[in-house]
Amino acid sequence: MEKKSVIIDCDPGQDDAIAILLALASGEEIDLLGITTVAGNVPLVLTESNARRICELANRTDVKVFAGASRPLMRKLVTAEWIHGKSGLDGANLPDPTMPQQDQHAVDFIIDTCLAVEDNTITICPIGPMTNIALAFMKEPAIIPKIAQIVCMGGAVKEYGNTTPAAEFNIYEDPQAAKVVLDAGIDFVMMPLDVTHKALVTKERLKRLKDLNSPVGDVCDGMLDYFNRFDMTKYGFEGGPLHDPCAIAYLIDPTLFSGRKVHLDIEVLSELTMGKTVADWWNVNDEEPNAFVCNDLNVEGFFDLLTERLGRLK
Ligand code: RIB
Ligand code: CA
Repeated sequence: MEKKSVIIDCDPGQDDAIAILLALASGEEIDLLGITTVAGNVPLVLTESNARRICELANRTDVKVFAGASRPLMRKLVTAEWIHGKSGLDGANLPDPTMPQQDQHAVDFIIDTCLAVEDNTITICPIGPMTNIALAFMKEPAIIPKIAQIVCMGGAVKEYGNTTPAAEFNIYEDPQAAKVVLDAGIDFVMMPLDVTHKALVTKERLKRLKDLNSPVGDVCDGMLDYFNRFDMTKYGFEGGPLHDPCAIAYLIDPTLFSGRKVHLDIEVLSELTMGKTVADWWNVNDEEPNAFVCNDLNVEGFFDLLTERLGRLK
């Protein structure tokens, strides 16, 4: 499979952190052009510095990290300290970063990177609210043809919402941005809660990371031990759902996942169902499919890949 030129847009967040580490350990499949950060799980000042903390943990101070939007396009920022802790990376116990934050705004980095390449070259991987991506499309629509694929973590189709009864956090945080991105007509792959709620970090899987006996394994163990608590209590799961790494794993080995090409739309008007991702699974409206929505994965294969790749980071 040809190596993909990837921009990860994220709001670290423990699961974002694992996703970044997976990408950094997968140089055969992913040429990580840069990491753009957005307010989401915690405010931007933390998501941005957390991204740099994770790059330093992986000894990758060469990675360019950019700060982006500090709030959604139209709505008030809603953060998720109740899941991720005040720092956004509770359990990691990482020092303040020393590698520099890039001066350029994340939106301008996305635009400049895309304008510099041929059509259908860039893969964008949003694993937080899609505010930066939407702003980039609105500021410079000429970048849209440059993007080969968008692989995002977000949404909930058959699953109930995790932030409101109807909506998943990333889409609920900025539904207007998600709709701008979806409506751009780019090859769109969505990893909703329907699949990420099957990627559970059970005790056995967590022990495999601890048994890596490496700084990365130890930090992942600490982060996920913290991250697991909320969802295991709330949903009665046998582990926390590893949302964001599903999007990166798809870039590495899409055969780990299954789903369906459907027509997808996003609620941006009703407050009751704001951010609901509506997939026409049975094509009742006979509308052109515009998204590949994943709803299942080879969970042992996923954790085998994750553990093997994280084991490469010394
Ligand atoms: O709903 C899960 C998503 O919201 C994940 O991306 C998590 O990091 C939070 O951003
Ligand atoms: Ca995230």
